Amino acid sequence: MKVSIIGTGYVGLTTGVCLGFLGHKVTCLDSDEAKIETLQSGHTPIYEPWLEDLLALAQPNLCFSTSYAQSIPEADVVFIAVGTPPLASGSPDLTYLLSAAQGIGKHLNGGFTVVVNKSTVPIGSGNWVESILRESYEQHHRHQSGGHFAVASNPEFLREGSALNDSLYPDRVVIGADEPRALELLYTLYRPVLDQTFPAPTFLPRPEGLGAVPLISTQLASAELIKYAANAFLALKISYINEIGRLAERVGADITQVANGIGLDKRIGTRFLQPGIGWGGSCFGKDTAALISTAAEYGLVMPIVQAAREINNCQRAHVIEKLLAELKILKGRTVGLLGLAFKPQTDDLRDAPAVEIARQLTERGAKVRAHDPVALPRARREYADSDITFCEDPVELANGADALVLVTEWPQYRDLPWEDLARDMRHPLVLDGRQFLDRPRLTRAGLQYVGILS
Ligand code: UGA
Repeated sequence: MKVSIIGTGYVGLTTGVCLGFLGHKVTCLDSDEAKIETLQSGHTPIYEPWLEDLLALAQPNLCFSTSYAQSIPEADVVFIAVGTPPLASGSPDLTYLLSAAQGIGKHLNGGFTVVVNKSTVPIGSGNWVESILRESYEQHHRHQSGGHFAVASNPEFLREGSALNDSLYPDRVVIGADEPRALELLYTLYRPVLDQTFPAPTFLPRPEGLGAVPLISTQLASAELIKYAANAFLALKISYINEIGRLAERVGADITQVANGIGLDKRIGTRFLQPGIGWGGSCFGKDTAALISTAAEYGLVMPIVQAAREINNCQRAHVIEKLLAELKILKGRTVGLLGLAFKPQTDDLRDAPAVEIARQLTERGAKVRAHDPVALPRARREYADSDITFCEDPVELANGADALVLVTEWPQYRDLPWEDLARDMRHPLVLDGRQFLDRPRLTRAGLQYVGILS
């Protein structure tokens, strides 16, 4: 099938590369010429494990362009995967979605096309996009009949850092479409994933025992709500374990053992019960805010989702409280942050806890240094004006520092030369923001280990 994808962020690019790998003819569109040039040269503008390798395999089926005119008229399916960043009100900014819909409407030809909302968009956006497409089509094709299209919602459930695995081997595929033809086309598009008939790339082996992937076919609004409800639930799970963690800290219980103890109950599940600094990234904060804002439009409050957000903010502040409790005075202290990215295996810094923690520490007069195995170049670009000193390695980070804070649980941080770091620090304190480090190992190295929830 011929597919066009508008937007080459995490979602658009991963979708494009995967569909190209599965044999579809894909054009990825972006208004950013520099991004398109990077992609044309076989590189990716974001760090995502195995993405460049899969891009190389999919290359014969992929095309990168800035021109709607080149690819929209021919496409059977057009995905909209543009950014919907949050506005100050909590609702998402739909400017890019609007301009993508207008651009598609302008270039649609007479054949049937399915336009798919892949970006996380507010409930009801499917109908809104349809009306924009119709308006734009009519404006640019005044004396022609046609404009046969349908809008569908196909929410994305991929996680940064494991985006390709999540796309090729998903738990489910959700398609919301009010028109049966749209569902049929998308079913054909996803058939190799649903039936798991494609040969797995060597670097992304198929999970053992994975059978057919369930397809959930719904009305538009249900698919749109599924996306928000899923992200909000995952966010709740994390906040719940962090709330229990605060109590565990007081009563002297080990929150990691508690999480394991409840998670092995299959009704609860062990995943997304990792306690610590809490969630960051471009999705949970934005989507929980949008859910609350949508509910408010209907006169509803969402106290559970609201509480999850508040707990999450408290977890970041808890880092400062813990440092204060140990160091007593933060003014003039040097704190080294191990990790900047909002989670391991990505260089994404959107709503990264490290950035907020650095801000709060600086506000209190501390000097902040930071290291990250992957996100340093991006941090240097995006936070060039900040007071953070970026360090090339953890040894430089620790030299003369009063405390190190593990913010992102990169696996390599587990095996740092702790004896060397302890020797070079002014005050050998390590605050483990993810309950991730090996406490006995650090203690043996002469460090004072403090867990964020212990
Ligand atoms: C999240 C969802 O997991 C995806 O299903 C969804 O498609 C995506 O948002 C989206 O809407 O685009 P992502 O934000 O990439 O994916 O990453 P997650 O793995 O969900 O992690 C989010 C944050 O939660 C990270 O900061 C992570 O450190 C934190 N987290 C995660 C915890 O604090 N504890 C956990 O147990 C799990």
